[in-house]
Amino acid sequence: MIEREGPVRVAVLVSGGGTNLQALLDALRDSHIARVARVIANRPDAGALERARSAGVPTTVLRDADDPAELHSALAGAQMVVLAGYLKLVHASVVARFRGRMINIHPALLPDFGGPGMYGRRVHEAVLASGAKESGATVHFVDEEFDRGAIIAQEKVRVEPGDTPDTLAARVLEAEHRLLSKVVLDLARRIS
Ligand code: GRF
Repeated sequence: MIEREGPVRVAVLVSGGGTNLQALLDALRDSHIARVARVIANRPDAGALERARSAGVPTTVLRDADDPAELHSALAGAQMVVLAGYLKLVHASVVARFRGRMINIHPALLPDFGGPGMYGRRVHEAVLASGAKESGATVHFVDEEFDRGAIIAQEKVRVEPGDTPDTLAARVLEAEHRLLSKVVLDLARRIS
């Protein structure tokens, strides 16, 4: 349980274009449950930073994403952390500080098609190569390993005949956008 005055302050960690961040910004725009308080990127050219600035949300670009002290200070004031397309492993001390309040979105039905190196197009290529009839999005708690923390929620999508990694990725991304905002609001209600 956290001391709460006002909406739960959510920090979002990003590395890429930020469509999941955008879905969260849109979903939380008028929320009294949670708000995006800071966006933190491990690279200065992450498109997600522009989305944050357009929404008036403070941003931080990490000089060294492997430096736990820098990440700890960037997360000052955060009550909940969301990894939305963040490609770095989070330092164990940061995981410990936010245990049960740090979540990640992954574009497949974990525990399959996850782990080190399993991100972006590679995930969807692996799903198609496996012949799986369905894929989807997973939100899970973050622990000391990539994509291994306890699963919170999933949304399934059908793999359609003729799907390419791009067409499957696009359909999974829509499911991600729906699922992430829902889980963030549910968890924010639970931790406050
Ligand atoms: C998403 O598919 C997410 O699941 C994965 O990276 C992609 C990032 O997309 N971890 P975006 O940057 O949110 O558009």
